[in-house]
Amino acid sequence: MCGIVAATARREVSEILLEGLRRLEYRGYDSAGMALIDNEQRLQLHKYQGKVSALEEAQSLNPILGCTGIAHTRWATHGQPSAANAHPHISRQRIAIVHNGIIENHAELREDLREAGYEFVSATDTEVIVHLLHRFVHEGKDLLGAMQATVARLEGAYALAATDVEHPDQVVAARSGSPLVVGVGIGENFLASDTLALRQVTDRFIYLEEADVVVCSAAGLAIYDGAGEPVQREMKRVSGDVEDADLGDYEHYMLKEIYEQPHALAATFAKASAGDVDASVFGDGAAEVFAQTQAVQIVACGTSYHAGLVARYWLEDIAGVPCQVEVASEFRYRKRVSHPNTLLVTVSQSGETADTLAALRFAAPEEFIASLVIANVDNSSLVRESDLAFLTRAGMEIGVASTKAFTTQLVAFLMLALALGKERGLSVERQQCLKEGLRDLPDLVKQTLKIDAAIEDMSAAFIQKHHALFLGRGIQYPIAMEGALKLKEISYIHAEAYPAGELKHGPLALVDADMPVVAVAPNDELLDKLKSNLEEVRSRGGELYVFADKDAGFTDEPGVHVLAMPHAPEVLQPVIYTVALQLLSYHVALQKGTDVDKPRNLAKSVTVE
Ligand code: F6R
Repeated sequence: MCGIVAATARREVSEILLEGLRRLEYRGYDSAGMALIDNEQRLQLHKYQGKVSALEEAQSLNPILGCTGIAHTRWATHGQPSAANAHPHISRQRIAIVHNGIIENHAELREDLREAGYEFVSATDTEVIVHLLHRFVHEGKDLLGAMQATVARLEGAYALAATDVEHPDQVVAARSGSPLVVGVGIGENFLASDTLALRQVTDRFIYLEEADVVVCSAAGLAIYDGAGEPVQREMKRVSGDVEDADLGDYEHYMLKEIYEQPHALAATFAKASAGDVDASVFGDGAAEVFAQTQAVQIVACGTSYHAGLVARYWLEDIAGVPCQVEVASEFRYRKRVSHPNTLLVTVSQSGETADTLAALRFAAPEEFIASLVIANVDNSSLVRESDLAFLTRAGMEIGVASTKAFTTQLVAFLMLALALGKERGLSVERQQCLKEGLRDLPDLVKQTLKIDAAIEDMSAAFIQKHHALFLGRGIQYPIAMEGALKLKEISYIHAEAYPAGELKHGPLALVDADMPVVAVAPNDELLDKLKSNLEEVRSRGGELYVFADKDAGFTDEPGVHVLAMPHAPEVLQPVIYTVALQLLSYHVALQKGTDVDKPRNLAKSVTVE
């Protein structure tokens, strides 16, 4: 999703801005631009549809230079991807602005500004902001006052950074609903939507809070809260993670991240000291909350939602706690009735997903006893705003398709089921068995990665297909959903998942030789039921691709292609089958030649509704 980088320094900053944009490329975007105030106090601008490389090329042919500047990668919301709609937007050669988020009242503001004589050259919602800011500085307000007056008129979500040629040493910025951090340098200051963009220049960051406005110059920073009062915000040092942005010997981040899973899973489980999982790993006060918890409500989006669906089986089976799971964009707008003493659990790799954040923010205080987030990014909005937090240790995930973040979320949920189970009389033997399972999981994933070549061979059968069906039963049904999501998002093959028992209630009508049917078939108590469902597919001429436990009794035959999976205890099966399905979608996408790490139309961190 859109990325912001801004800098104000005593040195020339164009290369810092460009490097910041390169580091934000993983978030997904369709156009890029930057504006600098040159040493003659003129606004200089480059913006293009396409990759940051187009901007680099323009910069090498016709350099624009300056000590103050703003830059942006845009992921289109209002107005198609084009140079005209790319940011920065400019008002009367004086103000330049970059924006992440969506302004909901842009149509009405546009009318007002048109009547005041402003001309619009783009189809974006952002352009109203730049003209509003211009209008206020033109009326005599200073940059801070103008930004405060501007944001007071905006409805929606925004992170903004702006420059004014009349104040060539300043960048003014504001946030509400979209993330923005200040990078603190020595004699220079920076802004970005993500710390990664600025790790090239600093490791000291201030996470702006909702409704903050900040004025940055090379000499210092002044932050004001939503009421316009000057405030101090804590500065944090950020370490680690930079090396995660290095591809090493891998062709794609997705493959690198799939292969990092044994380490990520072990690191996440290692949060429990000496492997003894209890409430304290979920934060101070978790023990009191868990002692009172009588139900769990999980809310998330996309892949994180699938982790929640898996968790429901564990929380009900292991901890004996009733559990509901819902996608955040539905949950947030629904009139709800909760069980007494329900714990709200949000799940998010980025910790910034707009719908999940809104679900947390708009939950009524009396609805839940507490909120717990399972997230992968420290200091993200969900982490800062939840009562309790569990940080997975996946390390930075750059591929848009979530892989290691998902499997570490599963580890976090198993640990949650254990911790809640302990409160509710889970037997010592079962606790022991789960802990041993968690300890053995990284090795099992390593064994699964060894069948990569066989999965690659199988993937060739998918590349000419337009549709695929994924089947699972019980806890493997959400794993089938995750497999289908991975395939559709990176290879653009339409894929659907069904609980296998539902086949004859409709989807069987789709089955023919052109519809590959992928089945998740561990050796569990539902295996025989699943086999009967797969027979229904075979007898209608469907081609089966069965990911099956070695001992599940499947053999290769015409129309049945079997991938032998390592034998695993039932509780670990969802993780290893996920890894195999991740590899399947990776190889299909690779052979189709799609952009594996940055699939079309998708963004890594979905900070708009
Ligand atoms: C799919 C994928 C998305 C995210 C979803 C939520 O591979 O990555 O479906 O899972 O956008 O994002 P987070 O987990 O950051 O809240």
